[in-house]
Amino acid sequence: MKKLVFATHNIHKLREIRQILEKTNFEILGLNDIGCLEEIPETQPTIEGNASQKSFFVYDKYGFNCFSDDTGLEIEALNGKPGVFSARYAGEGASFADNIRKVLAEMNEIENRKAKFKTVISLVLDGKEFQFEGIVEGEILTFERGNDGFGYDPIFLPKGFDQTFAEMSPQLKNIISHRGMATKKLFEFLTQKICEK
Ligand code: IMP
Repeated sequence: MKKLVFATHNIHKLREIRQILEKTNFEILGLNDIGCLEEIPETQPTIEGNASQKSFFVYDKYGFNCFSDDTGLEIEALNGKPGVFSARYAGEGASFADNIRKVLAEMNEIENRKAKFKTVISLVLDGKEFQFEGIVEGEILTFERGNDGFGYDPIFLPKGFDQTFAEMSPQLKNIISHRGMATKKLFEFLTQKICEK
């Protein structure tokens, strides 16, 4: 079985991706499995750049084929912000609640509520990079709704649905979400790679 590293320290993300990629016949390892205990730098100005930086970091330093993901919320009226700063929009160490508060304050009295979540997965196989993108369009509500999920889920209403990401079941969110779509593309690519052999 070919080994493939998922550049994350998060065991929940790792468990989820292992289930999704089970049928590809790649053995999915986490950063801890390869002795990478350091934080990987994410210093690029774009989501694509950060995803790329993480997977090349592992490939170059540890010598493993690798993939990584990076996600951001892009709000049209805020010129694409918080974007690459989504995790730390209200400052270094900000909580999800702090970030939501900042977005809602900035969106106060703004009529254009259009926003999208974007996930980019960067896969580096034998030094060559492939990227897979997942986008879900929607709008930013004026107040929070729902208790599930994480991050900006309570204020994000995906287009065509009447439940926020924090109100819908995790199963439904996984199917329609940015991350779900990008992961599906990765799955299809890896499945095809195996068939080519
Ligand atoms: P990451 O690249 O997956 O670490 O995501 C960066 C940040 O984007 C997170 O800290 C969250 O604030 C936000 N985010 C990513 N995915 C989601 C999601 O599915 N729902 C809500 N917020 C998200």
